[in-house]
Amino acid sequence: MESIVTVNKITPLEHPVLESIKNRWSPRAFAKTPITEEKVKILLEAGRWAPSASNIQPWRVIWGIKGTKMYDRIFDCLDDFNQIWAANAELLWINAFKKTMEKNDKENFHALHDLGLFMGNVIHQANSMGIATHQMAGVKFKKAQDEFKFPDDYHVTTAVAFGYYGGNPDDLPEDLKKQELKKMRERKEQHEFAFNGNFQTKK
Ligand SMILES: Cc1cc2nc3c(=O)[nH]c(=O)nc-3n(C[C@H](O)[C@H](O)[C@H](O)COP(=O)(O)O)c2cc1C
Repeated sequence: MESIVTVNKITPLEHPVLESIKNRWSPRAFAKTPITEEKVKILLEAGRWAPSASNIQPWRVIWGIKGTKMYDRIFDCLDDFNQIWAANAELLWINAFKKTMEKNDKENFHALHDLGLFMGNVIHQANSMGIATHQMAGVKFKKAQDEFKFPDDYHVTTAVAFGYYGGNPDDLPEDLKKQELKKMRERKEQHEFAFNGNFQTKK
């Protein structure tokens, strides 16, 4: 079956993995195909079924589709660099997690881990639908916290740009276009982060 992901990248695998892990990447240009509310609900549903410590589900999402006030409000919370390209996205959202546990108000040490699992589900559900994701740490956190009225025990972490694969790199300024067209994807090698023994630092 023809992949619905535009793969113009080379992923040098050390070992075979699922096709959707291999072909996912984070574009900054997206096709100009709208993402409907129904599709947003599917993405959220994928996240909803992520595992979490004690099933606390500490993730929270604020979302907005292009052309709506919500989209513009989220866009205004992105940092200057991400605003250069994220206007290409058809859907924007902001991630936060609840820092404390509902049952006793103590710190939920695993909340950030669980938000990561949530996003792992979301990005692979999206990929299977031909929707690319680009996560962003570059967020004006305080502004987002205030803008969307998050209480103090929630922590805004990231934003995410969504859009169908197949964007036009010409939509990007020259430096970002160059990155978009770079063929080879890079990762640390397994021996640098996984140890069948004591922790090791690189010599
Ligand atoms: C938590 C997180 C924060 C990121 N922040 C930004 C960001 O602010 N701006 C940006 O352009 N890319 C950002 N990225 C994208 C990464 O640079 C990208 O995922 C990484 O280079 C690997 O590329 P790939 O996703 O195409 O495999 C972020 C990714 C993650 C997971």
